[in-house]
Formats: sequence, C-alpha cells, structure tokens
Amino acid sequence: MTIIDGKEVAAAMKRSIAEEVARMVADGAKAPHLVAILVGEDGASQTYVGHKEKCCNEVGFRSTVVRLPGETTEAELLERIAGLNADPDVDGFIVQLPLPGHISEQKVIEAIDPRKDVDGFHPVNTGRMISGLPSYLPATPDGILSLLRYYGIETAGKHCVVIGRSNIVGRPMANLLSQKGWDCTVTVCHSRTANLREVVASGDIVVAALGKAEFVTADMVKEGAVVIDVGITRVPSDKTKSGWKLLGDVKYDDVAPRCSYITPVPGGVGPMTIVSLMQNTLKAAKGEIYPK
Ligand code: GUN
Repeated sequence: MTIIDGKEVAAAMKRSIAEEVARMVADGAKAPHLVAILVGEDGASQTYVGHKEKCCNEVGFRSTVVRLPGETTEAELLERIAGLNADPDVDGFIVQLPLPGHISEQKVIEAIDPRKDVDGFHPVNTGRMISGLPSYLPATPDGILSLLRYYGIETAGKHCVVIGRSNIVGRPMANLLSQKGWDCTVTVCHSRTANLREVVASGDIVVAALGKAEFVTADMVKEGAVVIDVGITRVPSDKTKSGWKLLGDVKYDDVAPRCSYITPVPGGVGPMTIVSLMQNTLKAAKGEIYPK
C-alpha cells in the first residue's frame, strides 16, 4: 500500500510554477495577479484565503484579498465583481464560498467573466470542460488528476466510483475521468443510490466526496483499490491543541491496508487544490485558455 503524499506533489508542482513565473518576469512580463473576495467572517474561509495568499507569495504571484463585511448586499458584491472583470491589472479572481445566505451564489458565479474565473465554476467553463475544450478545471478534481498522474496510476478501463455529485467535486470528477486520456468507466453514487455499498465495492478507483466523516468502511472497498478521500470534516478532539481534528470521508485506519494507493486526510487531496488554483491563474495570465 502506498500513501499518496499530496504535500510532496504540491511542493514539486509549486516549484515548477515558481520557476516559470521567474522566467516570465525575467523576460519582462508582469507577475500573474490573483484576487480573492472574502465576504464575512467564516473561519474556514479565512483560513483558506490565508493559504492562498501564502501560496501566491511562494510562487511569485501578486495576491490581493478584498475583505467585505458580512452585511454586504448582493448588488454591492456584483458591483465589485464587475470592477474586477474590467480591471486589466487582474488576471483571475475567486469569490470565496460559502457566501452569506442573503447572496445568491449562482448569481455571483455567473457574474464572473469566464476569462477570469480561475475557480472554473462559471457554466461557460463547466460547459467547455464537458465538451473537452481547454478550460479552467475546478481545483479539487484537477488536483486529484495531478495525483493520479504523478503516481502513474493506471486509469484506462478501470471502474471508478465517485461518491457525491456536487458541482465542484463529484460531477466534474466523474466527467473528467470518463474523458479520453483517462478512460475510466465511471459510476456516480449519491444519497438515492440503491445498493451503494455493493457499487462502491466494485470500484477499482473510489473517490469519496460526499462530506460524511468516515463513511467509507473496509467492507465497501475492493482489495487493491485506489482510494481518494476528498472529505474534510472538523470534529472535536482532546488530543490536539486546537481542540479539533480533521476526518476524511474514509475510515482510514481500516481501509488503508486493503488499498494499493490511498490519500490521507490531511495531507492528501487538500494541498493539491491550491496548486490547481495557481495553475489556472498562470494560464489566465498567459492567455492560454482565452487568448488575450
Ligand atoms: N470554498 C471552499 N473551496 C472553495 C474553492 O475552491 N473556491 C471557492 N471560491 N470557494 C471555496
């Protein structure tokens, strides 16, 4: 059994992005500029945005965080987005989710210029991805593909079971793995799936992205399967200084001995998502998806 080390892969990919940025800047280009809009005081969102800023600094990007109060109206946020869409100094931007309940996330996502949508959440980018056209790929599925590539994990002809059908993980993951080059036979499981345990147990590759701590148990996993755990649920713990710890969607200690490869939580998929965001921002700066 091999433990997939997301921290190592992320560090290697960040080094290569940093080298490319250094070359671009030496050749007279400006450094890629990523902006994050953060509305309100959500603790997890503040942590994510902090990580994104740090990562931008590490790879040589410019980074700006626009912090708006939780009472910001939808109209005010849409106005900010229009400003960033029009600002030639900004290569890409994201609006950190979740947003306060009075703001429509869908309206916000659709207000972002697809050319600057480095989260890859705009329907234009989703549509391009599904059509197999160049597009910004959503960070978590893209990070998982990078892990599979780095470890040389065979996917062609394999049965991949994706648990969860969210717009940002399950659905795009299932679509990408079915595309040419990855060539999986994909099954998507969700809350209404019949015989879910049996379906998961037939997977050569299992991507657990349903957001339920330790949902996938050893009896649901085929011997030799590749298990990718996207879950991050915070639970109270008296063993950590912070008073909480992170659990994945997979009961790791029981499942790991059955696997050929498995991602731990933390340190598996998590560190990869920011790298994917950096790659999308670099593509935006270079006009790789949408020529400037
Ligand atoms: N909240 C949690 N993950 C993400 C992400 O990848 N992008 C945005 N915009 N918000 C998030």
